[in-house]
Amino acid sequence: MNTRTDMSDKITEEFSYEFTDRMGRDFQARVCIDADQLVIHVYYGKYRAGHMFCTIRGDELMLGDIFLENAVELLGVPIRRFVCRLFRLPKPTISFRRNGLGSEIMEFLFETVSNRGIKKIVGQVPVKGVAENPKLLDWYRSMGFSVTPKHDDKLWVAEIRRPINLS
Ligand SMILES: CC(C)(COP(=O)(O)OP(=O)(O)OC[C@H]1O[C@@H](n2cnc3c(N)ncnc32)[C@H](O)[C@@H]1OP(=O)(O)O)[C@@H](O)C(=O)NCCC(=O)NCCS
Repeated sequence: MNTRTDMSDKITEEFSYEFTDRMGRDFQARVCIDADQLVIHVYYGKYRAGHMFCTIRGDELMLGDIFLENAVELLGVPIRRFVCRLFRLPKPTISFRRNGLGSEIMEFLFETVSNRGIKKIVGQVPVKGVAENPKLLDWYRSMGFSVTPKHDDKLWVAEIRRPINLS
């Protein structure tokens, strides 16, 4: 683990963590935390697999964005790419969703914030997110969030909230 002090005297903590998904793929999460934010960048070798951005307000962590890539073009296979171009086949891609990585990252977040004075995690779920993935709210529920629907809101479909059990 590393800590550093920036120009505004904010202490920043940086560390990395390894995950394995249900396909047995190994990922590295690079975590950066200061008084105002928590950022996680996730890598699968040379691929950026996704990220999580959160802001911190006192004892509350606001979930900004959690995103895993779904169709990243495969690198380092020029012959396969050539064949695909030649026969007008779709480009070979790789996805990091639906194999438990999102749940692993969320569990890791709970553990990371539980000994940093955070008492609850809150957030809003965008209409667009549920349109793309109708099971998104069920996923948040399965991660222990209470989900309150927001009616008549063009941008947000629900508010989510989860207490953190302090260790
Ligand atoms: C939401 C997200 C982070 C979840 O991560 P993930 O690694 O795909 O989810 P998991 O594999 O941990 O999923 C756990 C469960 O959630 C449900 N689920 C997740 N994505 C689903 C989908 N696209 N369709 C159906 N069910 C889904 C399933 O029940 C799944 O369990 P199962 O695989 O055993 O059936 C990821 O799918 C993502 O980045 N989506 C696009 C961005 C987004 O919507 N972010 C949230 C904005 S608020």
